Amino acid sequence: MGLGRNVLLLGTAIMMTACEPGPVLSVIPVPKQVEAARGSFTLDAGVGIGLADASDASLREIAELWAVPFRRGAALPFPIGSEGDIRLAVEPEATGVGAEGYRLDVRSDGISVVGTDHAGVFYGLQTLSQLMPPGTEAGIGSTSEGVEIAAVSIVDEPRFAYRGMHLDVARHFFDPDFVKRYLDLLARYKINRFHWHLTEDQGWRIEIDAYPRLMEIAAYRDETQIGHGSEEFRGDGERHGGYYTKEEIRDIVAYAKARHITVIPEIEMPGHAQAALAAYPELACTEGPFEVAKTWGVFEDIYCPYEETFVFLETVLTEVIELFPGEYIHIGGDEAPKTRWEESEYVENLMQRLGFNDVEQVQGWFIRRIERFLNDKGKRIIGWDEILEGGIAPNATVGSWRGVLGGIEASRMGHDVIMTPYSHLYFDYYQSEDRENEPFAIGGFLPLDTVYSYEPIPGPLRARDASRIIGAQANMWTEYMKTPEHVEYMLLPRMLALAEVVWSPAEKKGYEAFLGRLQWHLRRFDALGVNYRPPDR
Ligand code: ACM
Repeated sequence: MGLGRNVLLLGTAIMMTACEPGPVLSVIPVPKQVEAARGSFTLDAGVGIGLADASDASLREIAELWAVPFRRGAALPFPIGSEGDIRLAVEPEATGVGAEGYRLDVRSDGISVVGTDHAGVFYGLQTLSQLMPPGTEAGIGSTSEGVEIAAVSIVDEPRFAYRGMHLDVARHFFDPDFVKRYLDLLARYKINRFHWHLTEDQGWRIEIDAYPRLMEIAAYRDETQIGHGSEEFRGDGERHGGYYTKEEIRDIVAYAKARHITVIPEIEMPGHAQAALAAYPELACTEGPFEVAKTWGVFEDIYCPYEETFVFLETVLTEVIELFPGEYIHIGGDEAPKTRWEESEYVENLMQRLGFNDVEQVQGWFIRRIERFLNDKGKRIIGWDEILEGGIAPNATVGSWRGVLGGIEASRMGHDVIMTPYSHLYFDYYQSEDRENEPFAIGGFLPLDTVYSYEPIPGPLRARDASRIIGAQANMWTEYMKTPEHVEYMLLPRMLALAEVVWSPAEKKGYEAFLGRLQWHLRRFDALGVNYRPPDR
């Protein structure tokens, strides 16, 4: 046992580069307060986990989840009871920090993780995992060898309540196992919102009982454009698609919940709806037929604001609500050209009836109507910043993607805002200017330091309006990402920069120090078999 431990420590020392700070000072996102202490705790097979309240099923679940990577065979290695060397407790008064915060103390005679709430305990344990040698989470460095954890006291809490990561599963479908793997990565870095982009022109990905043609027709496209959407069409000749069954969705939502992640489903309207129109052409302003899109871009065939369309969308949303217990449903609202509405006699009559003189007002009315429906069912909506045009829905939260001006305007109007500007948080953009040596991407240039430099509170906001910025989110649009490995390459390490943007106190951040901390995490990814783009330096 002693030999194994020495080998582990020696290996760690040899791999460390000169600028690398070691585990205690390598935690990402960088915590609010870290104080190194003397000595270390040895995690081995004799260790137990003690729950302050042994009848607290949520606390037990957190403990079990944390212990899983150490498992050998079927059994968890550490007994979980009311006493143990690793003490877990939810004590709102004891941490001195707010929601989702924790206090972690590692000493030679034991470890204590005290959370303001259950999420705080979960995050304290994520931090504890980061203090262990890189292989530990992959099941290497097993407890038969013993794992050394350097003594430290950490007090930590998030800067923002909304810490989001998005995944577009419509442009390319990713199976439930990968979605879970993605959620694991989010949870390790204290990201707590998963924005699941489920419907698009190129595919519909959620099972809806009332409309079977969504699964039969809208979930599949015959082939996919090779190269950019702006180029002349050349198809790959391969049928692509898939959808998540309700059972799979429930499983993923529960998986996320156990990792303190809320899933926010996005059902796009009135635009990005061509796949649904391929299945139900009667919901369009023109006759069709329509096909599930094979290429990329913004499409003119959108939902027509008929009463039948509201019946369709409200029926879909009723089924969606049953699957997602979180407070938010994302209704899209972006990139909806009004060409078809402008040419439609139905829309002309509707505008006359409603006293509108601008077709954008119809979109405002459309989204307000959907908001009312969802509010009545106890849900709130998020929309992309286009929902500011044509009269914003009164209770909507705005995702500011075209820049920060939409976010500034919305916060001044008293709306909650999630900052997600493409300039800093679009992870489909290239990570290097040397495009020849990067996987083919949509365009743009978003290197790691640009993500890291992002400040979610725009300078000109007064304190009252700034408090409306509930957080930030990065987006992963997958037009040009066909494989999990490619998604991981675009995600990492940029998501770690995002994590510091949304979690860490601004004054604790520093790009050079972050690059040093990052080394420890890249080795974790190596051990876990997770793909990433090596930083340029
Ligand atoms: C978006 O990128 N269309 C939100």
